[in-house]
Amino acid sequence: MSTRGLILGIESSCDETAAAVVERGARTLSSVVASQIATHARYGGVVPELASREHLRAIVPVVRGALAQAGITLGDLDAIAVTAGPGLAGALLVGVTYAKALAFAQGLPLIAVNHLEGHIHAVLLNEREAERQSDEDTTAGPTTPNPSDEAVLALVVSGGHTHLYLVHPARGVQEPNWSYSLVGRTVDDAAGEAFDKVAKLLGFGYPGGPWIDALARFGDPNSVPFSFSQIKTKVHLRGKTPRTKAAKTAPIAELNPRLMFSFSGIKTAVLRYLELNNLRPEAQSRAARLFAPGAEAKPPQTKEEALALCSQEVVDLVASFQHAVVGDLMKKSFAAAESLGAQQILVTGGVAANRELRARFTAEALCRGLRVAFPTLSLSTDNAAMIAAAAWPRFLNGEFADQSLSGDPSLVLGR
Ligand code: KG4
Ligand code: ZN
Repeated sequence: MSTRGLILGIESSCDETAAAVVERGARTLSSVVASQIATHARYGGVVPELASREHLRAIVPVVRGALAQAGITLGDLDAIAVTAGPGLAGALLVGVTYAKALAFAQGLPLIAVNHLEGHIHAVLLNEREAERQSDEDTTAGPTTPNPSDEAVLALVVSGGHTHLYLVHPARGVQEPNWSYSLVGRTVDDAAGEAFDKVAKLLGFGYPGGPWIDALARFGDPNSVPFSFSQIKTKVHLRGKTPRTKAAKTAPIAELNPRLMFSFSGIKTAVLRYLELNNLRPEAQSRAARLFAPGAEAKPPQTKEEALALCSQEVVDLVASFQHAVVGDLMKKSFAAAESLGAQQILVTGGVAANRELRARFTAEALCRGLRVAFPTLSLSTDNAAMIAAAAWPRFLNGEFADQSLSGDPSLVLGR
């Protein structure tokens, strides 16, 4: 190994092609993300075939860009890390094949990373960067990840996942690393998917989360009372893998029903409310003007901009929807932390960028005397720095993949 501990991370599981160079899991030297939003926006969601094609186009320039931004060449690297799943099969294939070829050509070890573990490491990377900066004058040596002895609860909440994990130090490995136990998850849609679908109903852009987030600030969160029914783990589903996209990365197993999420019903409730109150045609015709070809649509910054996009009634509905989703994420995350004795909660994934979510989790944690941490906004959504950071402990432990590695759309994290 060179003295630097440089890992190139590659991420292509969904609609972002990303590459980053991270030193010893603690210092980001570069992070390049090529977003495909413009390609998928007109379809209101990710089109898998288009995603694969865009990854093929972007992968070489993105990796070159990450090396150039880091000021290094391929010869300076110590390992190549790649997202092996979960994600879209064709999209994963592009990153995995490219990483394998690069590792083979350079004679470098290859490290397979679970995308969900990557999201958790986004927060840990931020913490290590902050620690490293404060230690910089005193420590000349390498920064080593140091899992604390206490258990941490992680909520991974994005367009594809809504999973609760208990994160604890791994046993039986030489160098410190973490292991993960799945303690809760959605039984159908992911929370980000609900944001995207509600935004689509109203004719807003894709991804919908940033639009809902921006609009909700100007509405009354208590105007429409949404409720979540208590999930019951049906006996016949025990141990089986549900068919929905968000739920299939983890079998139902013996999870506590109190820690299960369900977000497919709230989208239907929003649709019903729009139809009952005859709000949809108006919202869609206003949105159609905003998203007309050539018009540059940006989420509203002021109340005037919000009301140009939709009526106050729709803004109130959007605020109530977001309030209900965030409330449900909070209720189950804090219940899990309490029942499992976790003193810290990590919230990560695209939905962790949401302003109301950050504010309410922070306030609730303060009340309960718990710590809560989120990644910076650029590390909340998909990126490759989190993949390179998650690979570092595996690199130290010599956990390498071989050339038979292939992408696994349903790759499971933990048990
Ligand atoms: O982590 P991510 O980039 O990709 C997946 O792994 O899915 O998450 C994307 C998701 C989308 O559903 C998007 O609407 C949501 O994160 N999102 C947000 C916000 N920013 C992104 N949801 C709510 N509020 C936001 N500010
Ligand atoms: Zn993600």
